Amino acid sequence: MHSPDAPRPATRSARSPMYRFLRHGLLQHRVSVGVLAAATVMTAACSTTSPTAASGPSGTPGASSSPSGRKDLQSRTADPAALTGLHIITNSSESGRCRYAARYPAIPGADALTDALSKAVQADIDRFAGSGDSESGCAGGQDRPELNISFEILQASGDVAAVRLTTLDYTAAGSGLSTTTYWYDGATHTSPANAELFTGQALKPLATRIKEQLAHREGADPALLDQVLATDSDTADALRDVSFTANGDLAIDFDRGAVAVPPAGAQHIEIPRTDALSLLSDFGRRTQQLAVDPSPGLDLGVTPTADTAPIATPAAREVNCRKVKCLALTFDDGPGPHTKRLLEILAENDAHATFFLVGQNVRTYRTLTRAELDAGHQVGNHTWDHADLTHRKAADVRSEISRTNQAITSATGTTPTLVRPPYGAVNTAVRRQLTMPIILWSVDTEDWKHHDSSYLADYTIRTARPGDIVLFHDIHATSVAAIPRILQTFTARGYHFVTVSQLYGNRKLRAGVTYHANEQAYGR
Ligand code: NI
Repeated sequence: MHSPDAPRPATRSARSPMYRFLRHGLLQHRVSVGVLAAATVMTAACSTTSPTAASGPSGTPGASSSPSGRKDLQSRTADPAALTGLHIITNSSESGRCRYAARYPAIPGADALTDALSKAVQADIDRFAGSGDSESGCAGGQDRPELNISFEILQASGDVAAVRLTTLDYTAAGSGLSTTTYWYDGATHTSPANAELFTGQALKPLATRIKEQLAHREGADPALLDQVLATDSDTADALRDVSFTANGDLAIDFDRGAVAVPPAGAQHIEIPRTDALSLLSDFGRRTQQLAVDPSPGLDLGVTPTADTAPIATPAAREVNCRKVKCLALTFDDGPGPHTKRLLEILAENDAHATFFLVGQNVRTYRTLTRAELDAGHQVGNHTWDHADLTHRKAADVRSEISRTNQAITSATGTTPTLVRPPYGAVNTAVRRQLTMPIILWSVDTEDWKHHDSSYLADYTIRTARPGDIVLFHDIHATSVAAIPRILQTFTARGYHFVTVSQLYGNRKLRAGVTYHANEQAYGR
């Protein structure tokens, strides 16, 4: 999170004016999209070789300056599927002029952490979508700005949890990529700042140690280091992404431009376990111990309920959409906290639908993903982290798709055959990389904007015609609540609710070609 005004955990000291100035100034340096794309590819490639690591786009453009650091970043992520009751909260906008998609975890029992993540995400979105105070973000008149925030769970063991947020800002004047780690301490029910891993007396020697490690690197800027680490309060502010490796070494990551000249990229340093020990607070020592020797599970004093599979709809039947009226409802960006309810509604109304899934969510909601297919629905690919593919390099586009297909296949045994690029954003370069038919839509409910169930039901009932593909997002409770009336109204009019593949029947859909509706369906 790189907003200079992002709220910090409650105990964090106020940021010094000099640091605010420095950071803000440095953020104005241009980062080429190519550099960012390369970082994503690299992390995606790493993760496919170790599927159990459940790693994500936590890479940094400057990773080349610390090759050993990358491995540690990969190995110390926790599998969200192992956390009972975990939900993913999504905050997104599909507006053509201001696109953002942010996901963060709500860990049962860690309310202070969820709150800190929520505030940080909102602050970043506010800055990005903000009203013309900078040339960055949506107010800067850039072409198709995009903000993408994703997460990794770094630790979830005993009474300690740690979540890293990775922010990618695809505006030309934006800073590009930044990472921040957020902590939860079950002993105090608080979300401590990164600096609270250390004792107050340790900040000065820690600053010295950081300077020693960074001073001799390519791109070192001793004057900048002196400013950023001038006082204990400055050092505390500079510590935004602290974590432990699996063998207890301390890892500290700095965003591009934070502690070295921007072209040198992000910086990563490590302090060996035994050296780190003397710097750590009680919380820091407990965290280090849990990193080395994790408890079998997370114990935050609550008993979360597991996500059980909802009742299954009878499997999809033969429906000939040339002879009967058909509608294909599609639900993007899930699975999420409201998907189970939606599956129940579809089952109660004997309706089928298509779900375009975000790979990162599939990793958490494996049971629900299986339940979608078991109930006769179709699942398609909606990229790993809801990326605007027109902003990604060819290799990135391929990994966004393949990683998601792998997650779905691993959860269900079924590999998707349809893709829907986020925001419906495709161009010739993207098409060339897509090996599946591209399914867009003919009715856009804009439910990300209209959080009003009766409006959404009215609009759909007024607008949809046989053969249409209707766009919803099952990450919104209001969208799910609109569905019963839509199903009942159209069913009474003789419609059938089918999957996208059923809508097209025997028609062969071609890879890389865009489909919006089946114009050959009944009555069109
Ligand atoms: Ni989407």
